[in-house]
Amino acid sequence: MKYRILGKTGIKVSEIGFGGWAIGGSWGHQDKNESIEALHTAIDNGVNFIDTAQGYGEGKSEKIIAEILKTRKEEITVATKMPPIEGAWPPSPYCKIEDRYPEWYIRKNIEERLSNLNTDCIDVLQLHTWTRAWNSNPTALEILQQLKKEGKIKAIGISTPEQDQNSVIDLMRKGYLDVVQVIYNIFEQEPAAELLPVAKECNVGVIVRVAFDEGVLTGKYTADSKFEEDDFRNKYFEGDRLARAVARVEKIEAEIKESNLTMPQLALKFPLAHPAVSTVIPGIRNKKQALLNTAISDLENLSGDLLKRLHKHYWHKGVWYSGK
Ligand SMILES: NC(=O)c1ccc[n+]([C@@H]2O[C@H](COP(=O)([O-])OP(=O)(O)OC[C@H]3O[C@@H](n4cnc5c(N)ncnc54)[C@H](OP(=O)(O)O)[C@@H]3O)[C@@H](O)[C@H]2O)c1
Repeated sequence: MKYRILGKTGIKVSEIGFGGWAIGGSWGHQDKNESIEALHTAIDNGVNFIDTAQGYGEGKSEKIIAEILKTRKEEITVATKMPPIEGAWPPSPYCKIEDRYPEWYIRKNIEERLSNLNTDCIDVLQLHTWTRAWNSNPTALEILQQLKKEGKIKAIGISTPEQDQNSVIDLMRKGYLDVVQVIYNIFEQEPAAELLPVAKECNVGVIVRVAFDEGVLTGKYTADSKFEEDDFRNKYFEGDRLARAVARVEKIEAEIKESNLTMPQLALKFPLAHPAVSTVIPGIRNKKQALLNTAISDLENLSGDLLKRLHKHYWHKGVWYSGK
């Protein structure tokens, strides 16, 4: 496993981190023992960065992570997320930051994160979503700065709203953020235009999420793949989306026919090729995925020629989370 620095935090993080959404729920049946085995295997193979959130099973993912970390000696950085008070998701342009992230709520929520993670200081606290409407008055980030001074958190971040990832650019320039969490994959290459260069310029750590575009970039889905009833992928890939995505993955597979690369290897190496990226956090649900994904860091970097050929697979598909 290779390591990089998480921007101005100075923390050394593994190139492959652990995406902790599915171990909390929303991805169909998930066996807790498999989640625990996945986490241990990832750490055994060099992972020292784990991403989670309150929203991943209302604290379930955080609690499983805390449970296994009690038994490990390694220094592991855990990044979690705080949602805004219930309301429009993503927040509408008319939402007021004082209503969605008031100080009393932020303080109460931090105490809950600390308790779930069984710690007295959160390594990385990310606001789970954001709107550009709050950029001119980012009071929530000022409150988090105060909590940093009080020793409750070490680093502050925002997980970008998928419909407007660039909304964090101004905040990085103004020095509000230590890290950002961004969707950057073979389909979603827009961050390469401005967000990633600005993160590099401002020394903001970059955590890349959804490198497999919710699994389809592993190449294992077909147009007829079915998901369990309680799996969010039914919504994400609803209508003709899965068939359209699979057809595009087939074109990418043709691109790497001559190489020894697999689709999961290509999909994780692609974001790692950008110098602004600190860590990529594939969702990992079992031991097999932990072994496959952690081994990818040590493979050779993608060649300049292949990277260039991947540029044309950029797909400006719009936002899929909120339905058609
Ligand atoms: N708004 C936000 O802040 C936000 C949103 C989304 C995600 N995230 C974070 O980013 C992380 C990654 O995103 P994600 O989990 O949504 O999606 P992802 O990383 O694009 O896809 C993960 C899924 O791909 C499958 N998979 C993983 N490794 C594989 C391999 N080697 N071969 C074949 N299949 C493999 C697994 O699903 P199956 O085994 O079921 O196929 C896994 O759950 C999350 O876990 C979470 O920590 C944050």
